[in-house]
Amino acid sequence: MAIPARSFRISPPVRAACPARSSSCRAVSVRKISKGWLDRVVSRSPWRMNDRGVDPQILKAWLSARSIARGLSAPVPEYGGFRVDTRSDTEVARWVFPQIVSGLETLAHSICKPRYFLKLCGSAEDLRALLPANWTLHAPSYFMQATSSSWPVRHLPRGYRIALSRANAVSEVRIFSEAGDLAASGYGAEAGNVFIYDRIVTQPDHRRRGLGRILMQKLHETKSQTCNTQLLVATEDGRSLYATLGWKTISPYSTASIVSA
Ligand SMILES: CC(C)(COP(=O)(O)OP(=O)(O)OC[C@H]1O[C@@H](n2cnc3c(N)ncnc32)[C@H](O)[C@@H]1OP(=O)(O)O)[C@@H](O)C(=O)NCCC(=O)NCCS
Repeated sequence: MAIPARSFRISPPVRAACPARSSSCRAVSVRKISKGWLDRVVSRSPWRMNDRGVDPQILKAWLSARSIARGLSAPVPEYGGFRVDTRSDTEVARWVFPQIVSGLETLAHSICKPRYFLKLCGSAEDLRALLPANWTLHAPSYFMQATSSSWPVRHLPRGYRIALSRANAVSEVRIFSEAGDLAASGYGAEAGNVFIYDRIVTQPDHRRRGLGRILMQKLHETKSQTCNTQLLVATEDGRSLYATLGWKTISPYSTASIVSA
């Protein structure tokens, strides 16, 4: 049974403790998701997709594997989505929502600083409608899933060489040009029965030579047999590549933040 949008049950209201809120921000009373609540809801729901958004369990699995791939802390259920403390120079934290929930709007109104990102498995228009005017939407992305576990075998173009390294559950593939420059690279990681592809990049001078396909193929070969679900979030360019491998888009993936003046 699908969880309809805006139907998450929430515990009694508490005062928000958002790290992104300064004294000049509008104070809001928010309802905080109780610990383990989302997991309990998810565990009662069979694996399925909504017409607006994605299954929270699938999103959590993708985020968990992404955190492993990037050495980040695990996602934490919060506001009806998941918070990941990214702690980089450009980003303090992000909240990723499987679908529209009231917590997203509440959270957006409690943040008034740059470097906090809100991400929704939903359209840019839907996200925009929930945000205060000072938020900026970023380039669109797409949540995608592989539809096949075997892809046509491609061979490395002449002059290139490939290197594979593995550390714990993370694989890294790098392709070097004849001159020794890094031409393309990408990561794969798994969590539970989900395998994800991450940071797939071909350098501009080496694009449209099949290196992106080879990266995907090599990472796919590192996947364990038990990982039946393969996921990624794609840029517009990436979506074109993955579509040639039979991947399907299961949801738009929209991002917003406050951009510093
Ligand atoms: C997306 C990206 C990795 C593709 O790498 P690539 O090495 O050029 O990909 P390939 O040569 O293997 O492309 C295979 C096929 O995918 C499709 N494709 C790849 N990039 C495409 C693009 N920009 N526009 C349209 N189709 C594209 C084409 O069908 C292509 O086959 P063709 O060249 O015979 O037409 C590369 O453009 C890139 O690094 N972009 C910037 C970073 C980025 O967005 N990465 C994706 C993150 S999800």
